[in-house]
This record gives sequence, C-alpha cells and structure tokens, in this order.
Amino acid sequence: MSKTLSLTAFVMNTASHIVHGTWRDPRGKQRDFNDLSLWTSLAKELEDGGFDTIFLADVVGLYGDYEGGWEAHVRNGLQVPSNDPFTLASAIAATTERLGVAVTAGVFQQPPYNFARQISTLDHLSRGRVAWNIVTGYLENGFRNYGYEGMLPHDERYDTAEEYLDVLYKLWEGSWDDEALKKDRKTGIYADPAHVHKIHHESKHYKVEGPHLVSPSPQRTPLLFQAGASTRGKAFAAKHAEAIFINTPSPKVAKSLIAEVREIAVENGRNGEDIQFFQGQSFVIGETEEEAQKKAKELDEITDHKMMIAHIGGGMGIDFGKWDLDTPIEDIETEGVRGIFNWIKQSVEGRKPTLRDVADHHGKSTRIVGTPEQIADRLEEWLDAGVSGINVINAFIPSSYTEFIEKVVPVLEERGLLKEREAKPETLRGRLFGQDRLSERHPAAKYRGAFGGVRS
Ligand SMILES: Cc1cc2nc3c(=O)[nH]c(=O)nc-3n(C[C@H](O)[C@H](O)[C@H](O)COP(=O)(O)O)c2cc1C
Repeated sequence: MSKTLSLTAFVMNTASHIVHGTWRDPRGKQRDFNDLSLWTSLAKELEDGGFDTIFLADVVGLYGDYEGGWEAHVRNGLQVPSNDPFTLASAIAATTERLGVAVTAGVFQQPPYNFARQISTLDHLSRGRVAWNIVTGYLENGFRNYGYEGMLPHDERYDTAEEYLDVLYKLWEGSWDDEALKKDRKTGIYADPAHVHKIHHESKHYKVEGPHLVSPSPQRTPLLFQAGASTRGKAFAAKHAEAIFINTPSPKVAKSLIAEVREIAVENGRNGEDIQFFQGQSFVIGETEEEAQKKAKELDEITDHKMMIAHIGGGMGIDFGKWDLDTPIEDIETEGVRGIFNWIKQSVEGRKPTLRDVADHHGKSTRIVGTPEQIADRLEEWLDAGVSGINVINAFIPSSYTEFIEKVVPVLEERGLLKEREAKPETLRGRLFGQDRLSERHPAAKYRGAFGGVRS
C-alpha cells in the first residue's frame, strides 16, 4: 500500500470539461483556453504546489446527440471547441522542470509509427516526464472523423489496442539498444548501426518495418495510464497500465476494484504494486463546514445541469434531451443505462429519483465538501483503501487548484501524506515507481534485445 498520495490535475484543452457551465462565471478562466499563458501559469502553479502530474484529457469528436442534434454542444462549449493536447503538452514541458505531463490519445487516431515518434520526442523534450492515457474511444463521431462508418464494437476496439501497443513496445523498447547512440566527434560515429534494429512488425492491422526514428528517451515507453471500466477494459488495464484512473463512489468500492485488477495483473506475471490507482475527486473548500456547504450550494446553482446530462448521455449514445430534467427515471429506463440508474436509486431516499438526480450524481458522487482538515481526513480514507493518487477535478481553472494548493496541500504535508521532493528533477516513472524504465515484468519488456539478430 502506498503511504503517500500523488496529485494529478484533471484538465482538458477546452472550455467545458466536466463541471459544465462554470466557464460563464468570472472565476472560470478556462473560457479563454486558447490563451497559452492560462496553461503555462497553471502548470507552474501545480508544479510548485505539490502536484506530480497535469493530465490532459481529450476526445476527437462530438458527443452523441442531445435534444436531437449537436447544436447544444456547440452553443454551450461542451468539449467543443477543443484543442490538441500534444501541442499544449510540449509548451507545458518547456515551461516546467518536474511536472509530469499525461497526454490522452486514442489508438484509432494515427498510425502507431507516427505516434511512437511523437511520444518519444516529447519524452526527450521533457526529460522523461511523459505519460500516455491510452483510450479506445466511445464517440460515434470520433470514429467517423477517421474514416470509419461508425464506432467499432467494444471488444474489437480493445483487440486493436493490443495490436497497436505491440508495435509501440517494439519501437520503444526493442529497436534501439542503450549503447547505440555514440555522438563521438573523434570517430565521427553518431550512432552504431549494430545496435539499431528494424522491427519487421506484421499483424492484422499494422505493418511496420522500423527502425524507430527516435533514439531511446529517458523513459523509453511513456508512463502508461488507462481507465478501462468494463470487464475487457479491466483486463486490458491489468495487463498494460501502470496507473489507472478510477471514479469509484467510495473507498470500499475502490478497495475491491483495486484487489480485482491487481489479481488479474498477477495472473499476467506482474506484481500487484506495478499498478497504481488514481481516484477522481473534486473539492469545495471552506474555512468552516457551513461555509463549504454554502459554496457548494452556490456552485450547484451555476452548474449547467442540462449539459451535465447531455455529457453523460452523449458518452453512452443516449439522447436524454427527449425528457425533462424532472422526469422520474423509472419512466425512461432503457437497456444501456441500468448501471448508472441503479446507483442513483440507491442514493435517493423518500422520493422518485429523476433525470436531474442523474445529472447531480455525476458531479457530486466524487465531490468532497468541507474544511481542509475534513478533506484531508477523507483523503486518508482513500489512501487506506489502497489508492495511490487523487485526480483533482476542477470547476474553475485555475482557482480550483489555487484553493486546493493554498488550503489543503499544507494540511496533507503536515500529516506527511505527500511524498517529499528529491533534490534533482526525476522522470515521471522515477517519481511514481522509483525507476525510469518499465518494469521487467511488463509485457513490453520482452522486446528488449529481441531484434538483435535482424539485419535486413
Ligand atoms: C478519469 C477518467 C478519465 C478519462 N479520460 C478520457 C479521455 O480523456 N478520453 C477518452 O476518450 N476517454 C476517457 N475516459 C474513458 C475511458 O478511457 C474508458 O473508455 C471508460 O472508462 C469506459 O471503459 P470501457 O471502455 O472499458 O468500457 C476516461 C475515464 C476516466 C474514468
């Protein structure tokens, strides 16, 4: 069990990411997300304030319809417009020294060869601070933007992801030996071809000759993040991920999920501790509990509940816009939403739960309202459940983070719940796992030295 918590800031290069409608408030500087200084100053603040990583979420298409179309998404800025996270990550890397930069990219967005090169370059430029959040996509439009007729079946997406990773691992771990790069002025040898290998990969979807065009970066393979929640998703994460994002409703649920995934990891030849878990959480902080509750009420009043429900339904391909927010959910039950509706039924007592409760639950189930001490108490419960990190969700950029850093971080530090900084900057994997390179138990490790004999 981890004894300290690692902090991640959950952001997206867009105006309305998770807590919708808050960009309309003067505190919501994410309204002007095209402005680079918003992000570079946030990154510096996070780095100085005890955060280990900035996590850039991303989608590559519109959410599914709401009220019969996608006009509401555009009108309300629901993850559109949104900018490319890679370009931003590069600027963040240039203006920070220690902050990890996690970039989200789907496996259907670009050929693996290009992606491997992009990540390796970013890992060089950041001196080993890159993480990749591996996603398989859940938006129809996101597939149609890349030449597909529509979304591929769920498990097929994961099968392709397995194949995609195989190519990447070969390029990152096997194509260049550590001793390949010489940069020797005397002999005039830049790199030794005896230590650079083609990979000759051929599989159902990919044919890649290699070699990798980038020499080994500090981490080689970026730190691998994932957030699979289905049975197939969990199996995938247990095999590949080093850090998993979870949004569980309680430490108890987190504990059993962590045990379940770690067991699958062990079946795959890994150790349970090779995977860390990051729980998503937002905070409303007050000097007193009363003040915090008052702030939470004010936040609820400015939150756009229609967009909250559009986001949930749009991610599941269900248009909740057909119903008024006060419609009881028993009147609109459909096959696809049983899971989330069951959660709501359990949390609402004494009346019929409505669609508005669904919208509410989305934001509140992972929200802590209280004083800094109360928040630290709750975070200790997550730590005890086996969580290694908290993925801090914002309502306002940057003030959600400024408040957390000014008020909660000192209490966490006082209680020894945040890991102390090494004197020298570390790689992100070094910071989280104590080593720069992937564990030898990871499936990618089998490609180390695997292509030595291939010389064609
Ligand atoms: C905290 C968190 C962040 C996520 N961020 C993204 C993201 O930025 N882009 C994306 O396409 N999916 C994202 N997802 C969705 C997951 O990648 C995954 O599709 C989802 O959890 C469903 O899992 P399943 O595919 O195994 O059913 C995120 C999930 C969680 C829990």
